[in-house]
Amino acid sequence: MKLKTSLYSRRKFLNGLLAGGLGSLVASLLYPLLRSVIPPYKEPDEVRLPGADFNGLEPGDVRPFAWDIKPGFIKKNSDGTFTAFVGVCTHLDCNVSYVPAEKKFFCACHDGWYDADGRNIAGPPPTPLRRLTVVAEGAELVIRKETPA
Ligand code: FES
Repeated sequence: MKLKTSLYSRRKFLNGLLAGGLGSLVASLLYPLLRSVIPPYKEPDEVRLPGADFNGLEPGDVRPFAWDIKPGFIKKNSDGTFTAFVGVCTHLDCNVSYVPAEKKFFCACHDGWYDADGRNIAGPPPTPLRRLTVVAEGAELVIRKETPA
C-alpha cells in the first residue's frame, strides 16, 4: 500500500539529519574536555575488613571481598596466613570468578583459567592474577597494594 502523503516532509528529514550531525559533532568535541576534567579511576591503597569474617575459613578456602569497585579474593593458606588477589583478569580486564569445585579462578570472557594461587594456567591470560598484601591488625584484616620490587 502506498501512502498518498508522506509523514515527514523533505525539510523535516533534512533538519533531523542536520541536528543529529551537529549533536554528534558537539558530543565528540565535549568528550575530551569531560575526560580531562573528570579524574581517572584510582584504586585504593588499602581496604580494611573485619577479621571475624575470615576466621572460619579452612585452609584452601577462598572468599570474595570488594577491592573498592573491583572484585577481590582472599585465600586462607595452609600455614594460617592469607593471600589476596585482585579479581580482574590480566588479559583484558574482565572480572574473574572462583570455581570451588575445581579450586580455580575462571574468566568467562575468553575462557581463561588461573590456579588457586592465581597463576595463569590456561587460555589467553598472559600473567598471574595481581596479588595484594594481607596483614592482620587487631580485629581487622588490612589488604594493601603490593608495591612492585
Ligand atoms: S579477559 Fe579474561 S581471558 Fe580474556
